[in-house]
Amino acid sequence: MTTIPFTTDLTIKPEVTAFFDAPTNTISYVVKDPNSMACAVIDSVMDIDYAAGRITYDGADAIIAYIEQHQLKLEWLIETHVHADHLSGAPYIQGKLGGKLGIGENIKIVQETFGKVFNEGTEFQRDGSQFDRLFTDGDSYQIGGLTVHVMHTPGHTPACMTHVAGDAAFVGDTLFMPDGGSARADFPGGDARTLYRSIQRVLSLPREMRLFMCHDYGPNGREIQWETTVGDEIDHNIHIGQGTDEDSFVAMREARDATLAMPKLIIPALQVNMRAGQLPPKGPDGKTYLKVPVNGL
Ligand SMILES: [Fe+2]
Repeated sequence: MTTIPFTTDLTIKPEVTAFFDAPTNTISYVVKDPNSMACAVIDSVMDIDYAAGRITYDGADAIIAYIEQHQLKLEWLIETHVHADHLSGAPYIQGKLGGKLGIGENIKIVQETFGKVFNEGTEFQRDGSQFDRLFTDGDSYQIGGLTVHVMHTPGHTPACMTHVAGDAAFVGDTLFMPDGGSARADFPGGDARTLYRSIQRVLSLPREMRLFMCHDYGPNGREIQWETTVGDEIDHNIHIGQGTDEDSFVAMREARDATLAMPKLIIPALQVNMRAGQLPPKGPDGKTYLKVPVNGL
């Protein structure tokens, strides 16, 4: 389906503030309604020193400090998808500032897949109930008076959603900056052909639409960037720009994915993010443990 399930309005211009997490190359956003103090946080990060098994909250604390300084009211914490490269900071921020936690309804598929990989027991619910809201294609929600439209854009993962608010779209891991190309499509439930079709949907938004990336790796030594436009991606994206056809994209994407190593944090990230950013339940000794499935991924 390449049609956009809502009408866009580029005259509405939400205020977008970016927070870059250098260890994971993730960009988190605070999105503010231009006509009220309401805001949302998109794709926040919880810090982990995996080698040491240590979790901290410096990145999330910076976002909390920004929201408090500007006296904003946090209404939503959005995950564009279940991230494999960083741990979500959403429950930590929600615990301090409130707001509702939302993700795509196909989180249930992701939970089913990784519930098996990590041999989770029946106490791990696979119905998305760890979240406050599960979005479907064409859904919308409000940040104060700002309407956000949600579009299902799977391929990188089954639960990926693009969130469109006025002239700003948060694309998660569908596209990268034009010189970065596209996200990998080889995780369980990922599919390069599906990703191609999702990207076509994003590129069918108006050319002037601002696009905000979830990741940037500064290819060829350029400084980190996270904002582009639909028009720029159509004209210059190295994987899918200038009318790249589906079969060429799929061949390129699959060949490239075969060469990529697993993200360093995929094992802790999936265990935490499939639980909406919560750590696994404490063991009988009152301590928290993460599992490593041997040859399980
Ligand atoms: Fe991702």
